[in-house]
Amino acid sequence: MKRILILGATGSIGTSACDVVRTHPSDFGIAGLAVRSNREKAEALGREFSAPVFCGEDAAARAVAETDADLVLVSTVGLSGLAPTLAAIEKGVDVALATKEVMVAAGELVCARAEAKGVKILPVDSEHSAIFQCLQSFGGRGATALPDIGGRGATALPDIGGRGATALPDVGWRGRRDVSRLILTASGGPFLDGPDDLSSVTPEQALNHPRWKMGPKVTVDSSTMMNKGFEILEARWLFDVPADRIDVVVHPESIVHSLVEFTDGATLAQLSPPDMRVPIQYAFSWPDRLPAERARLDLATLSSLTFRAPDEARFPALRLVKDAARAGGTKTAVLSAADEVAVARFLAGEICYTDIVRLVEAAVDAAPDLPCDSIENILAADAAGRKLAKEWNS
Ligand SMILES: NC(=O)c1ccc[n+]([C@@H]2O[C@H](COP(=O)([O-])OP(=O)(O)OC[C@H]3O[C@@H](n4cnc5c(N)ncnc54)[C@H](OP(=O)(O)O)[C@@H]3O)[C@@H](O)[C@H]2O)c1
Repeated sequence: MKRILILGATGSIGTSACDVVRTHPSDFGIAGLAVRSNREKAEALGREFSAPVFCGEDAAARAVAETDADLVLVSTVGLSGLAPTLAAIEKGVDVALATKEVMVAAGELVCARAEAKGVKILPVDSEHSAIFQCLQSFGGRGATALPDIGGRGATALPDIGGRGATALPDVGWRGRRDVSRLILTASGGPFLDGPDDLSSVTPEQALNHPRWKMGPKVTVDSSTMMNKGFEILEARWLFDVPADRIDVVVHPESIVHSLVEFTDGATLAQLSPPDMRVPIQYAFSWPDRLPAERARLDLATLSSLTFRAPDEARFPALRLVKDAARAGGTKTAVLSAADEVAVARFLAGEICYTDIVRLVEAAVDAAPDLPCDSIENILAADAAGRKLAKEWNS
C-alpha cells in the first residue's frame, strides 16, 4: 500500500485526492492531512482515514517532517507549496505536484534538488498529466538499451503495461530528445467569446468557470489565461523543454488534455472527460493504472472537438509569462507573487479585472532579477513581487 500525505486536503484537489484514496482502499492509505484553517473538515477526514491532521500556516512543512509517507501530494495554493516540496525532496520522498506556483516561482531550484536526490516530481495538473502519459512510451533516450517490446512476435513477450511495469527500467520523461513540441490545451475560460471589453468583468463572472470546479485563485487565473501561462512554465520544468517549444491551443470542450509532438511528425494526445480524479489517480498509481468507475469518453456522441489559437490581444497574460520565462532568474517568482496579490485585490473589489495583468507586468518590470539558485533569492523575489503588487495603483 502506498501511503500518501495530502497537503491542502480540504481544497478542490485535496477533496478529489481523498476520493481517489477512498475508492482504492487496498492500494492507497493516507499518511497525514495538512490544511491552513479548515480544522473541522480536516478532522472529519482524519477520523475517516485514521490519519494525523496538521493545521495552520506552517502545517504543510510540519506534516512533511513528522509523517512517514511514500508520496506527498502538494495541493496548497501559491508559494506555500514551496517549503514542503523542498522538504519532501530533502527527505527523498516523491512528490505529486498540483501547486503549479512551485514550478512557476522556483522550477529551476526544485528540479535541480529533485535530480540531486533522485526524487520524482509527478504531475497532477490535467494538462501535465496528459503530457506525462503521452511520454510513457519506451522511446526516446535510453530506449535502445531496452529489449524489443512491440511489433511482430509481441505476444511471446512478457506483459509490459499496467501492473508489473515497475520491473522495467525507467527511461525518463525529462529532456527527451525525440520531443519537438508540447501543446497545452486551454478551455478558454468564461470570456472566450466575449465581452470584448473585459474591464467591467465582476468577481462573480470570473469565478464562473464553464468546465472545471476549482479553488478561487486558479479559477480567476484560468479566466485571464495567466493559469495557462503558469502551465507553460510548469511544463518547461517538469519536462525540461524550453518555453519557446511549448504552445497553447484553445479547446473549449476540455476533452483533449494536451499533446506531445515528436520529431518524426507523430503527435500523441491524452483524452478523457474532464475529471481531476483521473490525473490525481495516475500520479498516485504511476507507473501502474488502476481501474475506476468513472464517466467514459464516448466519441460517437461528441458532436465535435474544436481548436483555435489563443487571442493574445485580449489575453496578454500569455505573452507576459513567455517574456518572464525568457528573462529567467527570479522574474517568474515575482510574476507568481504579484499575480496572487492581484487576484486577491480583484476579488476584494480594489482593482478592475484588466488591472490584474497590468499590475503583474508592472511588478515584473520593476523588480530586480536574481539567480534562481537559492530559497533566499526566491523568497526575496516573492516579497518584492508582493510589495510592488500591494502598492500598485491604476
Ligand atoms: N482545482 C483544480 O482543479 C486544479 C487543477 C490543477 C491545478 N490546481 C492547482 O492546485 C493547487 C490547489 O488548488 P485548489 O483549487 O485545490 O485550491 P483550493 O480549493 O483553494 O484549496 C487549497 C487548499 O490548500 C490549503 N492551504 C492553503 N494554504 C495552506 C498552507 N499554508 N498550509 C497548508 N494548507 C494550506 C487550504 O486549506 P484551508 O481550506 O484550511 O484554507 C485548502 O485545503 C493550486 O496551486 C492550483 O493552481 C488546481
